[in-house]
Amino acid sequence: MKILVTGGAGYIGSHVVLDLLEADHDVIILDDLSLGVELNIHSDAQFIFGSTLDNEALKVCFRDQVDAVIHLAAFKAAGESMTDPEKYSKNNISGTINLLNAMTDHGVHTFVFSSSAAVYGYPEYLPIDEDHPTDPINYYGFTKLVIESFLEWYGKLRGLKYVSLRYFNAAGYDPKGRILGLEQNPANLLPIVMEVASGERDKMEVFGDDYDTPDGTGVRDYIHVSDLASAHVKALDYLQSGDSIIVNLATGEGYSVLDVIEKAREITGHSIPYEITARREGDPAKLIASSESAGELLDWEPKLSDLESLLKTTWRVYSAKKEIN
Ligand code: WQD
Repeated sequence: MKILVTGGAGYIGSHVVLDLLEADHDVIILDDLSLGVELNIHSDAQFIFGSTLDNEALKVCFRDQVDAVIHLAAFKAAGESMTDPEKYSKNNISGTINLLNAMTDHGVHTFVFSSSAAVYGYPEYLPIDEDHPTDPINYYGFTKLVIESFLEWYGKLRGLKYVSLRYFNAAGYDPKGRILGLEQNPANLLPIVMEVASGERDKMEVFGDDYDTPDGTGVRDYIHVSDLASAHVKALDYLQSGDSIIVNLATGEGYSVLDVIEKAREITGHSIPYEITARREGDPAKLIASSESAGELLDWEPKLSDLESLLKTTWRVYSAKKEIN
């Protein structure tokens, strides 16, 4: 199939492109490189520079027959979405609607959407399944939730078939080392731990050690980016015959901040100094999700999301970067 991947130069998108090419799909990448990295654009994919708000770029994307769209292009910093909601409205909401209109105008009705655990808000029970109430606590989560509602309507009115994938904490890098471009200004735990290990930062903060968790630090369900990528290919297969669905992508297991630091010390051989600071606003103690639906409906299971693989594959890229510098 010929697949348009928006955000295909980004952290998750570049891994999705690898899997699509391995599954013998043709790939067009649309990316404005605002978060994406040029180094991560695969030479076997066709690259179109532009955003989902750029109608000229979209025209080029749909000039030839496209069979499906995988839409990852979005801003994703929960904190920033609270101080600059307009930026998130424009890109994540208007951009997606623009893309949906362009694709349905061109007769393309197959869509895989990059959604988020952020649609749920504070957990009412664990593990979180897809029936858990959705009540985002940041504007970023709202942008993802509102698009899921649009998808339902485009399904009813325009025959759109979609799979919405709610990712939990994406982490790790391609185990074969093919993705080398790092995210700029990462705000997530694993990249920060790696920056301390590689000497780019002197130390890090652990946001609170008085949560109701075994060691008092926050527990999250980390899912390897290559496991996320494989779910997108399986979602395309599902859409050949199935209905539209919304599924979690997670492992059902959780690691605490101190678990991550401890294991990273072992794997990197560096000390990773940290200090305990105040809790970060909006951080629940524990987020763990069930992926039973993805297992049953997509025949998907995570294979690389153990802590060792998550950290080893990430350290490989961060330590290589250190050598380049
Ligand atoms: C993980 C744990 C922190 C940094 C975010 C978004 C969410 C989703 C995924 C996209 C928490 C602790 C972190 C640090 C720390 N994004 N931590 N020191 O907050 O679970 O989720 O990314 O869909 O919307 O909010 O991930 O990696 O920031 O934090 O102690 O310097 O690490 O408190 O317990 P989070 P994270």
